[in-house]
Amino acid sequence: MNAKRRPLIAGNWKMHHGGMSGIELAAGCVKISNHTPHVDLVIAPPYTALAAAAHGCDGSPVAIAAQNIHAKDSGAYTGEISASMLVEAGCKWVIVGHSERRQYYGENFQIVHDKTCAAIDSGLRPIVCVGETLEEREAGKTLEIVKREVVAVLPVLAKSTIPVAIAYEPVWAIGTGKNAQPSDAEEVHAAIRNWLAAASEEFAERTRILYGGSLKPENAESLLSCANVDGGLIGGASLDAKSFGAIATVAERLTAS
Ligand code: PGA
Repeated sequence: MNAKRRPLIAGNWKMHHGGMSGIELAAGCVKISNHTPHVDLVIAPPYTALAAAAHGCDGSPVAIAAQNIHAKDSGAYTGEISASMLVEAGCKWVIVGHSERRQYYGENFQIVHDKTCAAIDSGLRPIVCVGETLEEREAGKTLEIVKREVVAVLPVLAKSTIPVAIAYEPVWAIGTGKNAQPSDAEEVHAAIRNWLAAASEEFAERTRILYGGSLKPENAESLLSCANVDGGLIGGASLDAKSFGAIATVAERLTAS
C-alpha cells in the first residue's frame, strides 16, 4: 500500500447470500466499517440482494457494487440489468470483466470495454478485472496477457472523471486457496501502474489496483504490504463477516504504519 491511495477492500459474493443471509452479512460489514475509518469498504452481493443491502448500508461508509452489468441501457435483453438500474438499486461500483464472466459467458475485450463505458457513463465506478491463466503464466506470458487486457480499457478508464479501479486476479489463484506470491503480485501491479502512467501520471498515481485470488486473513498482510497493491477483491473470504473484517483490519493497520 502507499499513503497516496486509500485502501479499497471489496467483497465479491458471487452466487452466494442472495436473500436474508445477504442482509445479515451487509449489516456485519457496516459494523466492520466502524473500526476501519481509513479503508473504503465495498460489497458486491448478487442482484437479488442489491437493493436490500444498499438499504442496510445506507448512511454507512459501506458502498455497494454489482457483479455484472449490461452494456445497453434498456431494451429487449431478457435477464439483463443495465447501469441505470444498478444506480437505482443503490450501487456505486460494478465489477466488470471478472475472469468467471470472461471464461463462462464469453466476455471478450469488446464486451468488457463496452460494459466499462456503460458503467462510467452512468456514474458507476468500474472495478475492471484482469489476469492470466496458469497456462499463460507457465508460458511466461503473464505481463503480455495482462497488458492486453489493461490496454483494451485504458483509454476509457483514463478519461473517466469518476474513480475507477483495476483488480489483478490471476485466474489460477481464484477460489483455489493458492494465492500469488507477494513479489509476483507486486511485479504485475507495478507493471499495470506503468501502463496507466503512459496514459497519465496523475491517473496512475491515484488509481487503485487491487489484488484478488485467495486473499484471506492469513496472507492479507504480506500482499497488502506491497507498494502497488492498494487493496483486494475478495471472494471466498468475503462470505463471512469475520474473515472479511480481519482483512479490512489488516488494511486499516497498514494505513497507520
Ligand atoms: P477468491 O475469489 O477470493 O475466492 O479467490 C476472488 C474473486 O474471484 O474475485
